[in-house]
This record gives sequence, C-alpha cells and structure tokens, in this order.
Amino acid sequence: MKIGFFDSGLGGLLVLKAVAKELSQYDYEYYGDTKHLPYGDRTEEEIYELTKIGVEYLFTKDCSLVVIACNTASAETLRRLQEEFLPLEYPDRKILGVIVPVIEDVIESDCKRVLMFATQRTVSSGKYHLELGKRNEFDVKIEAIATPELVPLLEDGNIAGAYAITEALIDDRLLQGVAVDGIILGCTHYTLLASKIRKRFGNGVTVFSQTESIPMKLRTYLQSHPEIETLLSKEAQLRNVFLTQHTSMYDQHIAMLLEGQFLSEQAWIEKF
Ligand code: DGL
Repeated sequence: MKIGFFDSGLGGLLVLKAVAKELSQYDYEYYGDTKHLPYGDRTEEEIYELTKIGVEYLFTKDCSLVVIACNTASAETLRRLQEEFLPLEYPDRKILGVIVPVIEDVIESDCKRVLMFATQRTVSSGKYHLELGKRNEFDVKIEAIATPELVPLLEDGNIAGAYAITEALIDDRLLQGVAVDGIILGCTHYTLLASKIRKRFGNGVTVFSQTESIPMKLRTYLQSHPEIETLLSKEAQLRNVFLTQHTSMYDQHIAMLLEGQFLSEQAWIEKF
C-alpha cells in the first residue's frame, strides 16, 4: 500500500517531494484538484465534498494513509473526515493534516510574535489559533493575514511576484514596530517563498514551512504506528500524479517542482 498526498493544486507536490526525500523507501500517489482550485474561496461544504472525493480516490488507488497537503482543506475538513467518513467507510485507513505539525514546531521554537500567511478560508477557520489554544499556549500571538492572491501567482510559477507581496506585508509589520520573530507559510503553495524570506528576514525570524515540518512528523507517526508502516510497499516511487484538470503548462510545472525526481509514470484524470 502507498502514501497518498492530496491538494487543491500543485502546491502539495512540494510537501510530497520533501517527504519523499526524507522517507525515500515508500511509494506515493498524488491527487491535485486543479479543476476546483482555489479552495480558499470556496464554502466549507464544497471543500469538504471535494476533499472527500480526492481522498477516496487515493484510497481506491491503494493508499492506506492520505496526507491532506492543503491547509485550507485540513482546516475545513480533517476533523469531520476523521470522525464521520473514515469510521463508516474506511475504518482501516488514516488521514493526516498539515496544521498541527506546524503548531507543534512553533511551540517548540519559543517564537512569540508570529505572522501567518494563508488563504481566506484558512484564516477564517481559526484552526491555527484553535490548535494553539488547545495546547494552552496563550503567550504565543499569531497574526493571520489572508493572502489568497498569492495562490494563482505561485500556481503559475510567478515566485518573484508572490514574494514581493509577502515582503511588503512583513516590512509593514516591522515598520509598525511589531517584534515579528516567526513566519508561518500557512499554505502549501507558499513554501516556495521560504528561501527568499529567510534570505531577507532570516536574522531573528524563524520561517515555518510545511516542507520541513511534515517529513519529520510523518517519520515519527510511522514509527509509532507499525500497523500502518508494515503495510506500506517500499519501491521508492511516486506512482502517479492525478490532476482533475490538466493543461500542458502543468507538465512543465510539475517537472520543475519535482526537479525531475522519481516520477515513474504520469496518469491524468479529468473526469470530476
Ligand atoms: N494549497 C492550499 C493550501 O495549502 C491553498 C490553495 C487553494 O486556495 O486552493 O491552503
């Protein structure tokens, strides 16, 4: 069996690439719901239904574990999928999200004034604050800034344009005297900005990127769940990238994101 990665688009491939580098022995499948991107502007119910379709598709492709590599979908659907969908339909499978791993890293880091960039939906869900509150971390302040305009820019490969917007927002907070000591890239697409942000603000500012948090947490998860780990096939391959809508631009973009790594086969689906 394999590990599946779900995202609304291609951003989750960055997380998958980082995971596959760290946990290279396993086999992976990827599903990007490019037809319905961006999720950040959709209703909670739409996001739930679309995410459920994608996760189920990955289950039918023999994934025993699916990582929802999308903050928006993690924020709006993870708990409900785990509590309502899995027990009834797939009691032997698991679904993990990407928000809790970042919150745990923020707490371990001792950062106190953190800026978070995310989609409108992730911000309005309040999930990051909720997870922080559950851990009684009341002295950590997260200012969540909705930056949905970054998603299409990054999906089109315009990293410089997306960085310029982010840089201006961070500069603005610093000019206002906010003692920013951490930045959460709360959208899988935004992880592309990590190195530029570090280069400019890295001194005294910790950048939290899911390309770093998720591989470590997944390793720990698999170590503590041998009943899942032993089921996983170990041929070190990304089997398929499933996209609900495919244009030729995506081929180039996927090749760029994966840097030619381990793609054994590409199968495209457009039937949703
Ligand atoms: N990749 C998604 C996330 O991590 C955002 C893109 C979208 O709005 O669909 O939130």
